[in-house]
Amino acid sequence: MSLISKTYQERHLQSGGGLFGKVRVPGDKSISHRALLFGAIAEGTTTIEGLLPAEDPISTASCLRKMGVSISQIKRNQNIEIEGVGLDGFKEPKEILDCGNSGTTMRLILGLLAGRSGRHFVLTGDESLRRRPMQRVGQPLKLMGAKVNGRSNGNFAPLAVCGQKLRGAVIGTPVASAQIKSAILLAALTAEGSTTVIEPAHSRDHSERMLKAFGANLEVGGEMGRHINVQPGYKLQGQKVIVPGDISSAAFWIIGASIVPGSDLTIENVGLNPTRTGILEVLQQMEASFEIINTREVAGEPVGNIHITHEPSLKPFTLDEEIMPRLIDEVPILTVAACLIDGVSSITGASELRVKETDRLAVMTRQLKAMGAHIEEHSDGLTIYGGKPLQGALLDSETDHRVAMSLAIASLVAKSNSKMIRSDAAAVSYPDFWEDLENLRN
Ligand code: S3P
Repeated sequence: MSLISKTYQERHLQSGGGLFGKVRVPGDKSISHRALLFGAIAEGTTTIEGLLPAEDPISTASCLRKMGVSISQIKRNQNIEIEGVGLDGFKEPKEILDCGNSGTTMRLILGLLAGRSGRHFVLTGDESLRRRPMQRVGQPLKLMGAKVNGRSNGNFAPLAVCGQKLRGAVIGTPVASAQIKSAILLAALTAEGSTTVIEPAHSRDHSERMLKAFGANLEVGGEMGRHINVQPGYKLQGQKVIVPGDISSAAFWIIGASIVPGSDLTIENVGLNPTRTGILEVLQQMEASFEIINTREVAGEPVGNIHITHEPSLKPFTLDEEIMPRLIDEVPILTVAACLIDGVSSITGASELRVKETDRLAVMTRQLKAMGAHIEEHSDGLTIYGGKPLQGALLDSETDHRVAMSLAIASLVAKSNSKMIRSDAAAVSYPDFWEDLENLRN
């Protein structure tokens, strides 16, 4: 479903009330996309347990179905089965592939389709996705011989991919982006000769872990795993994938429990992949009161439970370019935390936030200022002068799922009630967010 149809109906948000009890957040969005995509190009059946049943992975599944991949219906609490078509099995789709609101869908699928020689594909998305830069993927793929066209010299969807026989290459990516890296790795699986991706900083590594588990010949080397090499010619084999809870969804409860007085919460089954746990480093900086319990490894990904209680004297924090790839999606909710913490918090090296589902630096500043926050916006970050009470306000997600959920947490600590329009954006990554919020509130 396209976000253009998101409703403007106002949702009432009552202030106050701590967060209590236990919650299991839905499956990791990044891992869910990859399980669907890799299952589609594997041989045989892939079974996915814990797939995120939200709009973004549903967009990935619907694109794959249009290319002849059989995927069982995506329903809550039900395993998903995919019949893989093999590395070169995609049918030329008769329809446009609609990636909805999902940048991961569009970018990873671009990598998969670039090498399907003799076939033509057209990809588009909702209004937000059609504004997001795609040349960052098209450009490196062109170095491998790909033909990708689109508006503004191939930068904006709708995009047309004319499948080509690709050649391997050594490619340095300009930004640490798991989406760019993964697109190149997927194209490399069927290219002629080996491909190496060199990232400026280590982005999330779910693709590397899962491609290896599916049987790809992939090696990770270099300082901090920034060099990834793929040798083509290895078929992928269908697997059982178990998707852990998404730490980026858990982040709303983690920060909520830290800042809302009286909270005491356990978040179960949270993925703790070290390329994603920047928020835990920030909790330490903030001197938050939390512990990680029952850590274990599930299907190649570290997992644990997080127990967190309200901490009345949190410390301001500093985020810079170094930590950014490990908490890129958590910046909106961390901005809410900074508003509540006495002192000045600073976020730099975050210009990537401007090309997410919305310009998250601008949108969070605008919405939190409506609540009375004192925030200065810079080209690559924010300075937040915290400790001033937030007031209830008329809020707008501006169609961004993470903004909707961040503002919902901000509304709990506001001095008066708020309202939010386009709150249903949360369904992009967390379909039961509003129900869980109701259940966890005191
Ligand atoms: C994602 C990578 C991140 C993240 C996005 C999901 C992925 O984007 O913001 O929500 O699944 O690869 P970038 O890789 O572009 O930073």
